[in-house]
Amino acid sequence: MAKGVAEARIAVIGAGLMGHGIAQVFALAGHDVTITDTVMQNLDTVIARIAANLRDLGDDPQAIARVRPCVDLAEAVREADYVVEAVSEDLALKQKLFVQIERHVRPDTILASNTSVIPITAIMSGLNRRERALGTHWWNPPFLVPLVEVIETQWTEPELIAWTMQLHRAAGKAPAHVMKDVPGFIGNRLQHALWREAIALVEGGICDAETVDAVIKASFGRRLAVLGPLENADLVGTDLTLAIHNTVLPAIDSRPTASPYLQKLVADGKLGFKSGEGFRKWSAKEQAALRAKVMQHLKASRGT
Ligand SMILES: NC(=O)c1ccc[n+]([C@@H]2O[C@H](COP(=O)([O-])OP(=O)(O)OC[C@H]3O[C@@H](n4cnc5c(N)ncnc54)[C@H](O)[C@@H]3O)[C@@H](O)[C@H]2O)c1
Repeated sequence: MAKGVAEARIAVIGAGLMGHGIAQVFALAGHDVTITDTVMQNLDTVIARIAANLRDLGDDPQAIARVRPCVDLAEAVREADYVVEAVSEDLALKQKLFVQIERHVRPDTILASNTSVIPITAIMSGLNRRERALGTHWWNPPFLVPLVEVIETQWTEPELIAWTMQLHRAAGKAPAHVMKDVPGFIGNRLQHALWREAIALVEGGICDAETVDAVIKASFGRRLAVLGPLENADLVGTDLTLAIHNTVLPAIDSRPTASPYLQKLVADGKLGFKSGEGFRKWSAKEQAALRAKVMQHLKASRGT
């Protein structure tokens, strides 16, 4: 069992979008953090990226002194009490990496993956000590979105879940215990159930993409941060919820595969921001404006 959460040494594997933000959160919470990446450009810029975030958020700039980039994986994890992996979303890569990591850590070091949707069981199946493995699913940007889903597998020691929940709580995050290792965990299952229906509405000609988003933002989207769906169901009454479901659920998209509409967008090279068009067209100016609006909103909700 790793030491108390306050003095835990953290290793972050992958210095990309999520890895650098996760390192930042732990360093700000007072932990010594090592971080590694196989792409030197990403490792060389990690300190500058974290420093810029700390400046932008008005957080303690001294936190950066606690982050140590390491070229070598073994060096990054050797002293760690807790290792969190945030490399690309590729099952084979993650499986191989954890087998490598296990060769260099103590038997009681906790090993976590920040995969978005891949079952932790699949990632960790090749480990010798699978009882020390779990998932921690952060949300982007890690330093502004509070939730971290802490995923238990059939092998995970329950005390390690409690320890990991406490580690994240002490770092200012809002951990949620996912008791079964299902694809997409909790947050992404909910999010993508909504996305599936959003796409189906456009595909079915009920409205255009802009209207789907406008409807959500002007209605239940306004309440979602303070009123969860099940609180809402209780608020309006489970009897009303049942009546609505009896009418609406048979009409809602329940196809078990990705929508042909979405598949065609991808096949046509309409990849969203990166190609300038997805469900809608996006100029560089519109892309920057939307990104800025989201950041501004998240910063304003920080600490709430
Ligand atoms: N981007 C998001 O919104 C988000 C949210 C939650 C979870 N995730 C998950 O977090 C993980 C990382 O996503 P990201 O958005 O930060 O990706 P990213 O591409 O920004 O970063 C991945 C980093 O991993 C590095 N890397 C690849 N192979 C490596 C290896 N063998 N050893 C060390 N480093 C290696 C890459 O060079 C890159 O810097 C993925 O599993 C992703 O699904 C992403």
